Amino acid sequence: MKTVVLSVDARTPAPDIVARAADVLRRGGLVAFPTETVYGLAANALEAAAVGRIFAAKGRPPANPLIVHAGDPLAGRALAGAWPENAERLAKRFWPGPLTLVLPKTPAISDAVTAGGATVALRVPAHPVALAVLQAAGLPLAAPSANRSSRLSPTRAEHVLRDLDGLIDLLLDAGPTAGGLESTVLDITASPPRLLRPGLVTPAEIEAVIGPIQHAGAASGPLRSPGLLGKHYAPTTPLECPADDAARVAELLAAGRRVGWLTFKPRPMPPNLVVELMPASAREYAARLYDTLHRLDRLHLDHIIVAPLPDGEEWLAIRDRLRRAAGTP
Ligand code: TXA
Ligand code: MG
Repeated sequence: MKTVVLSVDARTPAPDIVARAADVLRRGGLVAFPTETVYGLAANALEAAAVGRIFAAKGRPPANPLIVHAGDPLAGRALAGAWPENAERLAKRFWPGPLTLVLPKTPAISDAVTAGGATVALRVPAHPVALAVLQAAGLPLAAPSANRSSRLSPTRAEHVLRDLDGLIDLLLDAGPTAGGLESTVLDITASPPRLLRPGLVTPAEIEAVIGPIQHAGAASGPLRSPGLLGKHYAPTTPLECPADDAARVAELLAAGRRVGWLTFKPRPMPPNLVVELMPASAREYAARLYDTLHRLDRLHLDHIIVAPLPDGEEWLAIRDRLRRAAGTP
């Protein structure tokens, strides 16, 4: 298969390009496009064969369910088998936006999307390109991140191509995504609602709307989100988050290893060391993280060392992704 790549304006995508993407999707094809978090790989969520192509292109285990995207909150609501008060409040506050709600599903959603489960993960993305394609297709779209399974999520079209060139029909390139980390996933079939994946919407922001939630990692048993187990979101270069990053970098350099270092302080750059000076704001760090890791990966270094992160809930999602990238969830 040849993957067609089309550039689109991120704010006002050209209608003919949007129509072409919608047409590919209606015919059961695969289209990658930007959302406000990361690039997604979309297919018609109502058609098992189309959804099956997502799993094949990504090499994704079929037991890992997909997020279904809707073009507006009403369309999202129509895909849920029940719509509790919490859903109404959260959708009103955060949709369109990077909050995914797990709800009972309607029969229209293909079992391939939900891995045979009774719930569906729903969100309305905030990116104009994603919304335009959803609205033009007039379909709910299953869309995981547009990367091979367990690899880093893409924040640029070139990241998508590196993993999926020749495996998908169409890629809409609208430049880098602003958020940089995947959406927050909240299971509101649980009582109290349960955070399955931290993301750009923080627990405090959610709790301000619906009251206390169960936090991931709390002593409340295993996560119910199969995609969150094991190594995930990982660069191919081994990544570590040591307590004393400077000492670890010095040790590796002394051993003749080539090292990439994500740090908050400017550092000298001896041979074999690539320093990435990271922003002190969590929002900016999130926006830069995957792009930085993709770039370091391309240098084929021996190690990536990440300086300890500041405390604070706004770093929760970043901490989570780095732990998974290091393979120590
Ligand atoms: O920001 C995002 O959410 C991006 C963009 C493209 O929208 N999408 C994304 O999808 O990150 P994906 O498939 O890479 O991650 C979906 C996560 C997985 O961890 C999966 O296990 C979980 O959501 N999930 C999906 N359906 C679920 C369900 N019914 N119950 C529990 N977890 C679910
Ligand atoms: Mg993913």
